Amino acid sequence: MKLRNRVAVITGAGSGIGRVSAVEFGREGARVVVADINVAGAEETVKQVEALGATARAIRTDVADPNSVQRLVTETLEAFGQVHVLFNNAAIQVNKTVEETTPEEWNREMGVNLGGIFLCSKFFLPHLRRTRGCIINMASVNGFFVEPMCAGYCATKGGIIALTKAMAIDHGKDGIRVNCICPGYIDAGLAWGYFKAQADPAAARAAAGKLHALGRIGKPEEVARVAVFLASDDASFMTGSAVVVDGGFGSGLPPQT
Ligand SMILES: NC(=O)c1ccc[n+]([C@@H]2O[C@H](COP(=O)([O-])OP(=O)(O)OC[C@H]3O[C@@H](n4cnc5c(N)ncnc54)[C@H](O)[C@@H]3O)[C@@H](O)[C@H]2O)c1
Repeated sequence: MKLRNRVAVITGAGSGIGRVSAVEFGREGARVVVADINVAGAEETVKQVEALGATARAIRTDVADPNSVQRLVTETLEAFGQVHVLFNNAAIQVNKTVEETTPEEWNREMGVNLGGIFLCSKFFLPHLRRTRGCIINMASVNGFFVEPMCAGYCATKGGIIALTKAMAIDHGKDGIRVNCICPGYIDAGLAWGYFKAQADPAAARAAAGKLHALGRIGKPEEVARVAVFLASDDASFMTGSAVVVDGGFGSGLPPQT
């Protein structure tokens, strides 16, 4: 087991990639805090982790709200006494151009996607310093290669890559590693929302697969296993990295026919 006795907080673990990551972290021996604004989703994730014989706790959290994040820290420490891994995975995606996006939508997207990483990192860092723990931020290939109709989302993901590198430099001296993951399209909530926003969702889904050299979109497990690796001692000399998990989306190869 790669994460035996580690305590891992995963934001946005009430569905999608976060939920599957919670299950994979539990399988590797971690005790998992499932932090999500969606309580029912978080409780379902806890059931799935517990079904493996592992330990998990759902904590309702809005990562964009400083008070909520401070409560998450307090409740995590009350439950488990320490924390070794913070996986900042929660995000939302506004499927609009800048012109169509309202200021409220823009501020919420920035507040959740980038602001959530700031707040969770800020308030967990003193505790991660004690365990020489690590932070994993969820970015996207959209931090490198942008797509239409999600301008704000792409901006947050580019920002997350830069924030990851800046945090790695600031906290390396404390033995805290900070890396991010940049997935291509993954069969989970935010990709489903993007397909739904297109004129022909089924065609959009089929076309997305062809953007990847492997000719398909990825599975949440294929990202979760990379998160397990980054959280584990196997990645002990990795920090400031943007780890691309994209089935060749950014390979420059022509789309598969
Ligand atoms: N699905 C993809 O194709 C894809 C590709 C690249 C990167 N990602 C990234 O992976 C992560 C997970 O995406 P997903 O597709 O699994 O999405 P998802 O919608 O299934 O999961 C996102 C979770 O975040 C939670 N959340 C939203 N706002 C929150 C808030 N304010 N506080 C706490 N929790 C909140 C939601 O309730 C949900 O459970 C995101 O960071 C996303 O940008 C996804």
